[in-house]
Amino acid sequence: MRIAKRVSQIGKSAIHEMTRLSKQVDDPAFLSWAKPTSDTPSHIKEAAVKAIRDGFAGGYSESAGLPVLREAICEKLFRDNQVTADPGQIIVTVGAIEGLAAAVMAVIDPGDEVILPTPTYSTHIRQVQMASGKPVLVPLIEEEGFRLDIPAIRKAVTPKTKAIVYCTPSNPTGTVFPENDLKQLAETALKHDLMIITDEAYEYFVYDDQRHFSIASIPEMQKNVISTYTFTKTYAMTGWRIGYLHAHEEMIPQIAKAHIPFAICAPVVSQYAALAALQGPQDCIKDYREHYLSARNLLCSRLDGLSHIFKYVKPGGSYLMLPRILVDEGRDSAAFCKRLLREARVSTTPGAAFGPTGQNHLRLSFCVPQEMINKAFDRMEKYFN
Ligand SMILES: Cc1ncc(COP(=O)(O)O)c(C=O)c1O
Repeated sequence: MRIAKRVSQIGKSAIHEMTRLSKQVDDPAFLSWAKPTSDTPSHIKEAAVKAIRDGFAGGYSESAGLPVLREAICEKLFRDNQVTADPGQIIVTVGAIEGLAAAVMAVIDPGDEVILPTPTYSTHIRQVQMASGKPVLVPLIEEEGFRLDIPAIRKAVTPKTKAIVYCTPSNPTGTVFPENDLKQLAETALKHDLMIITDEAYEYFVYDDQRHFSIASIPEMQKNVISTYTFTKTYAMTGWRIGYLHAHEEMIPQIAKAHIPFAICAPVVSQYAALAALQGPQDCIKDYREHYLSARNLLCSRLDGLSHIFKYVKPGGSYLMLPRILVDEGRDSAAFCKRLLREARVSTTPGAAFGPTGQNHLRLSFCVPQEMINKAFDRMEKYFN
C-alpha cells in the first residue's frame, strides 16, 4: 500500500492498545480513561433536543461558528481567562483536537521545529509530525513537580524553531504551569518571534492554591498565541465534539483555511448545546472539581501505601497523574502496564506514550468513581506485596 510518511512514521497509540488489551481481561479496574465518566448535564442535552426540534441543527453554520456562541465564548474568555477577545478572533472547532490540528497546520511548515515540554499529551506530538514538522522534546523538571525548564527551552531554540506547544493543566502529569514561568516562556517567544499554541482543556480543574493562567492574557502576546479550549472536560461533553480556539484576528482567516477542509464547521447541534452550557448554571463545574479533588486525595493516599513501587508528584490540576515506577521492570513502561493488566487486572497507561521522558512512569486517571480507585489499589497491593 502507498501510505504517506506523515502517517506511516507515527507509531501505534499505546493508549488505544491498552484499551484493546483491557477488553480481553475480565472485570479490569480502569485507571486509564482520561474522559469524564459523568453524563452531560440535562439542561445542555435539552437545549440540543430543542435545536433539533426547531429545525436549527440540520445545516452548516458559519465556518467560524454561530455568532451568538462566539459572543458567549468572548464573555467567558474575559470573565475566566482575563483575555479580551471579540467574535472575529474565535473559531468554534470539533473539540480542542481539531482546533489544535488546524492551528498546527496553519503555523508549521515541513521541517519547522516545534518545542514540546514533555511528558506531554501524545496527540500534540503527532499533530506536529502530521504537519511534517520536527518535534523537539524538552523534558519537564520532575524533581520540581514537572515544572517547565525555561533555560532548557531557551537553549533548544534554533533558527528553525517556529512554535512551542504545551498543555496546562497538564495531561499526563497534572502540573499547572505557574504564571511566572509562563511569563518567562512568553518573553522567550517574543524574543525569537515564536508562536505559542496552548491546550487549556483542563482549565477549570485546578486544586489547592493553584491558579490556571492563560498566556493570551498577556497583551504583548496577542500576535504570538493560538489558544485552544474545549467543552469536553468542563461540561462532560466528550462525545459532542465541540471546542474553540482564540487567536489574533489576522491569524483567524489563515487558521480557517485549515479548519474548513478538516471540518467545514463544528457540529451545529453541539454548538447549540455549547451555548446552553455557557449560558446555563455553572454548578456542574464545581461539582466535578470537588469530585476530582477527593478522588485525587484518595489516589495519592493509596499510592502512599505502595511507596516501595511508586513515587509521585501530587497533581495540582487536570485529573491525571504520572507516578514514577521505582522497580526495575518500570524501565519498559509498556511491558510493566501490560503485565499489571494481565496479572493484577488493573488498566493504566504506559508513560512512554507521552514521550521518552514518560518512560519509567505510568499514567493514572482520577476521573473515576472512588470505588474504582479502591478496587485498583486493593488489587495492586495484593499483587506487589
Ligand atoms: C490535554 C487534552 N487536550 C485535548 C483533549 C481532547 O479534547 P477534545 O475532546 O475537546 O478534542 C484531551 C482529551 O483527553 C486532553 O487530555
